[in-house]
Amino acid sequence: MNSVVIIGSGNVAQHLIKAVEKAPDLDLVQVFSRSHSGLKHLVPQEKITSNYEELKDATIYLICVSDNAIPSVSYALPFQGKLVAHTSGSVTLQEMSTQNRRAVLYPLQTFSKQKELDFTKVPLCLESEYETDYEILEKIASALSHTVYKIDSTQRQALHVAAVFVCNFVNHLYKIGNDICDEYDIPFAILRPLIMETASKITVLSPNEAQTGPAKRNDTTTINKHLNGLTKPNQKELYKILTKSIIDDVEKL
Ligand SMILES: NC(=O)c1ccc[n+]([C@@H]2O[C@H](COP(=O)([O-])OP(=O)(O)OC[C@H]3O[C@@H](n4cnc5c(N)ncnc54)[C@H](OP(=O)(O)O)[C@@H]3O)[C@@H](O)[C@H]2O)c1
Repeated sequence: MNSVVIIGSGNVAQHLIKAVEKAPDLDLVQVFSRSHSGLKHLVPQEKITSNYEELKDATIYLICVSDNAIPSVSYALPFQGKLVAHTSGSVTLQEMSTQNRRAVLYPLQTFSKQKELDFTKVPLCLESEYETDYEILEKIASALSHTVYKIDSTQRQALHVAAVFVCNFVNHLYKIGNDICDEYDIPFAILRPLIMETASKITVLSPNEAQTGPAKRNDTTTINKHLNGLTKPNQKELYKILTKSIIDDVEKL
């Protein structure tokens, strides 16, 4: 059985702790956390440490800390020659210390501690410094999820940008929709079926095929009415940029 040590106690660490505990072929040996308090509900006290020197032996060490702390945490590990993977979309393999065998297990999903999700459905993007480690990494990842991809650092960087567009930016647009609803005393819930259908549609159509709306139709009368109705400068700017991008795409077809 492969054994796992998780370093971190944030969103990804907490989801991974639950996923490792559920996986029949994995053993959660220990969790490193600077403060034990946030993990009390998930892990018995004796499995938590805040001292790198106390880290136990494991098949893999998963560094689930903020991107900017990944290099320093990798250098702080007191052992050598072990398999150490981070979970970031944007940090390269080369940014980690060479004292251990470097790898990446990037879960392509949005994680919040407060929101449960089925980890077996999360695509896991894998990369390893050594080909022999890829087999171990793949076995561990396959115990956690049904979808596993081999993705190198350059591809992962591009994937991360794509993910920012389809997740973080889209969510910001929900926020703007919410603000506009609030301004006119409309419940945001009225937009939820539209949001769900928009996401569901691209499971059967390409994003290009699924596009609708005034920009797609180049309906300048409606576009101008919308621009005149928007009260916030940043909303007008975003509306103009996105409308132009859609119109440019349509003209290229
Ligand atoms: N959240 C997502 O949707 C998501 C998705 C895919 C990948 N990721 C990646 O997963 C990693 C973790 O993200 P997250 O969302 O779980 O972050 P998070 O919730 O903000 O948690 C960050 C964790 O890093 C720890 N940490 C920060 N600086 C540290 C240091 N110098 N030494 C030791 N621990 C340190 C924090 O410990 P304290 O609590 O003690 O401060 C905390 O446990 C990142 O690389 C992120 O890019 C995140």
